Amino acid sequence: MLTIQGLTAIYPDKTKAVDGIDLIVNDGESVALIGENGAGKTSLLLAVVGVIESLSGVVEIDGVRLGKKTAGEIRKKAGLVFQNPDDQLFMPLIYDDIAFGCRNLGMPEDEVKARVADVLDRLNIAHLRGRSPLKLSGGEKRAVAMAAVLAMNPSLLMLDEPTAFLDHRARRSLVETLKKLSQTKIIATHDIAFAAEVCDRAVILKDGKIAVDGASSLLYDEKLMSDYRLEAIAKG
Ligand SMILES: Nc1ncnc2c1ncn2[C@@H]1O[C@H](COP(=O)(O)OP(=O)(O)OP(=O)(O)O)[C@@H](O)[C@H]1O
Ligand SMILES: [Mg+2]
Repeated sequence: MLTIQGLTAIYPDKTKAVDGIDLIVNDGESVALIGENGAGKTSLLLAVVGVIESLSGVVEIDGVRLGKKTAGEIRKKAGLVFQNPDDQLFMPLIYDDIAFGCRNLGMPEDEVKARVADVLDRLNIAHLRGRSPLKLSGGEKRAVAMAAVLAMNPSLLMLDEPTAFLDHRARRSLVETLKKLSQTKIIATHDIAFAAEVCDRAVILKDGKIAVDGASSLLYDEKLMSDYRLEAIAKG
């Protein structure tokens, strides 16, 4: 379970991007985080794993409270796939990029190998394993970044714009993969149809605050969505 209480987070230039957020996400829930550009979606995800500094408030994952001493433990529990895959991929070979997190957790190499093979297969990217991340297309990079996080099997999976750059087939396979995962998920996205398909709950952010929190059926509510400068899914 993820518990966020009174979380306020700022960037070094003093921009307050997360402003007093209270949010509880129960085990197995799948939450879409939506809102216009600059609403604070990415910043909230970064604050949950302690990448940006919280000024005040509490983040707790499965009973572990985020703090300087627990940052490592928190990152084991919460896997974040970054909005920009270039922020996440840095090894010369894709295989090593996907294995990196697992190796960091001290997993034996046999197990690392099995996990990497499994996740490459699940995301239909086994053909990329020997390539360099620098030389991939945007969609391929995103799939590799996702694989690196899935391989660690975190109890909380946080995805930032996971369908960006994906073609139809890759997007479909991502939907199917996510639906099969029993983990708790928080997905920041502008892809409202994707959110409706994968998530049972939707949270709308505005100016770093939670404006609306409800069932994902609200994604079909034209009036509500347009109030937050978002586009509802067409019915029918
Ligand atoms: N590195 C940074 N330093 C300072 N301010 C930042 C930084 N990154 C983002 N911000 C600011 O924080 C606020 C929230 O940005 P954030 O990236 O969290 O929005 P978002 O909802 O993820 O937007 P998008 O839909 O464009 O991805 C914005 O005002 C933004 O300008
Ligand atoms: Mg963002």
